[in-house]
Amino acid sequence: MSKVLIIGASGFLGRSLFTSFASNPNYETHGTETHGTYSQRQRPQLDHLDIKNRYDVHAYIEQIQPNIVIHTAAVPDPDYCETNKKAAQQLIVEGTKHVVGACQEINAQLIYISTTYVYGGEKAPYREKDPTDPINYYGKLKVKAENIVQLLSLPWSILRFDFLYGYNGEGMPNGLVGKLLSGNQVKANSVQMRKPLFVDDVASAIKKIIGVNGSGIYHLSGPDQITKYQLCQRLATVVGVPVSNISPIKFEAQAAPRGNDTSLLTERLDALDFIFTPIDAALKIIGDEYAKRESLPTAT
Ligand SMILES: NC(=O)c1ccc[n+]([C@@H]2O[C@H](COP(=O)([O-])OP(=O)(O)OC[C@H]3O[C@@H](n4cnc5c(N)ncnc54)[C@H](OP(=O)(O)O)[C@@H]3O)[C@@H](O)[C@H]2O)c1
Repeated sequence: MSKVLIIGASGFLGRSLFTSFASNPNYETHGTETHGTYSQRQRPQLDHLDIKNRYDVHAYIEQIQPNIVIHTAAVPDPDYCETNKKAAQQLIVEGTKHVVGACQEINAQLIYISTTYVYGGEKAPYREKDPTDPINYYGKLKVKAENIVQLLSLPWSILRFDFLYGYNGEGMPNGLVGKLLSGNQVKANSVQMRKPLFVDDVASAIKKIIGVNGSGIYHLSGPDQITKYQLCQRLATVVGVPVSNISPIKFEAQAAPRGNDTSLLTERLDALDFIFTPIDAALKIIGDEYAKRESLPTAT
């Protein structure tokens, strides 16, 4: 029986991974037991863990004894990191150092979730072996964290991708869809060309990588290029939110610098015949899932 630990399972990506691993335990012949952690957003089935606390990280990981640790914990917001440098550094760099140290101690394989912002955007599309050249603080911290992960003498993988979209279900963290459903005005860049990734593809890619005993750096990318503003409009239509709730913004309105194009080539997963979900298909899945939740009977 292999044990998977998802750090940050109360987040948008972590929730998707937790659901996928916990509900399909036999993805490999030995079966899987899934554990997950939260920091502020308490959730049933999840354990509390603050990765900034070295002692707690070591004690918890020693107690769980996972074979595989998927480390998703971060604040995935370049503008927050640009304006809260110390807090961001403590979480992304120091926190990762603690997780890496604990994995090393119990010989656990580590899968670290990184970002396309490790690249500056002048030389796209980027290959997995291209050197990193971040231009914002979030990207710089992620490069530092990646470098710490690469010190492990055990198998490690680093997954880089552009922004995520998808739907985990009602009452769950839903990323962009959650922001739209909140009814608040959502600002989205209407200039920067992106290649968003359907969140469900991350769990599938990780299972593929584990299945072939893969290690090293992997790029993940949706096949379609679109601005965040355009995708927000399409998502809003799918979940019945007025598109007038979305305001287009340009680079100047954002605290962190961003490159025009940080598209990734996905050569390593392509070689494993991995297929990324196109936006049209992903929107259909999101729409169907959202409609299912809406049609559930309400408790009296
Ligand atoms: N979202 C994207 O578009 C995107 C794109 C590229 C890469 N990524 C990367 O993907 C990962 C997940 O992103 P996400 O969108 O799922 O973010 P998210 O929804 O904000 O979730 C972040 C997770 O990190 C946890 N966390 C925060 N501070 C922590 C701490 N001190 N100790 C332990 N856990 C802590 C949060 O726990 P609580 O909520 O319980 O506090 C939450 O579970 C991040 O590493 C991010 O850099 C995301």
